[in-house]
Amino acid sequence: MALIKGSVARNLNENNVTQAVIERFANTPDARLKVIMNALTRHLHEFAREVNLTEEEWYEGIKFLTATGHKCTDTRQEFILLSDTIGLSQLVCAQSNKRDQEATEQTVFGPFHIENAPKLANGADISGKRKGDPCYVNALIKSVADKPIANAQVDIWQADAEGFYDVQDPNWTPAKMELRAAFTSDARGAVTFRTIKPCAYPIPTDGPVGAMLKATNRHPMRPAHIHFMVHAPGFEKLITHIFVEGDEYLDSDAVFGVRSSCIGNYVRHAEGEPTPDGKKSTVPFYTLDYTFGMQPV
Ligand code: BEZ
Ligand code: FE
Repeated sequence: MALIKGSVARNLNENNVTQAVIERFANTPDARLKVIMNALTRHLHEFAREVNLTEEEWYEGIKFLTATGHKCTDTRQEFILLSDTIGLSQLVCAQSNKRDQEATEQTVFGPFHIENAPKLANGADISGKRKGDPCYVNALIKSVADKPIANAQVDIWQADAEGFYDVQDPNWTPAKMELRAAFTSDARGAVTFRTIKPCAYPIPTDGPVGAMLKATNRHPMRPAHIHFMVHAPGFEKLITHIFVEGDEYLDSDAVFGVRSSCIGNYVRHAEGEPTPDGKKSTVPFYTLDYTFGMQPV
């Protein structure tokens, strides 16, 4: 039931309070903010009516969000984790990045990217001597029209064989960046580096998001992947991962980020075979060849 504009909003009930709140936003100068506040009010109120939210449950929700905020630090973003695990990040990512079929698909950013990763030359070893199976990556950056893109800026980051990013170490400082780097594609559009083959790993479960996953009987695992962020003038920025074919979590990613087109073929080679850098490996190793298709702006 609509309230008369300018009327005193009192004696409101669970139905007409929604319209009263929307009217209170009527003078919002920013048109987009007004749309967002109105829709947020309508959907949030409808949610509370639909589940007949009790005062105890509402207060539990407030406590949960408060704990989520308290868990955040410069290197831990529990709100992003919450958005990721309820599929909101994937929803926003999907609706914001509609691309040609030939373009590499965008997926969730995640909380572990760091600005100013070490700038390394092609062929560098980013493993920081962490244990794990050696993996030689040969990434080609091309336009959707199959033309090589030189001078693309390519950030790489991944977890170690235990499933941790460097920033998750409590003693981490920016001087200790490992399993992350920034490369520039060469004239062939190539970025090449040595790393370790990624493993499936759990997202951090020692906070409120972990408690939510436990209470809802959900696993926290992400399928193995390497993150890539590619900037090239004239093309849409690309944030994606390359997953590992055959990983058991591809269809149940805790953050809903898997795209079939971003599953890479990590090929196993026996010890003694020549490695892409022309040496002979004393241990088994993997190679990954993947071609990124960049969408023009
Ligand atoms: C990640 O892949 O790094 C990640 C993404 C979303 C949530 C947690 C981790
Ligand atoms: Fe990751």
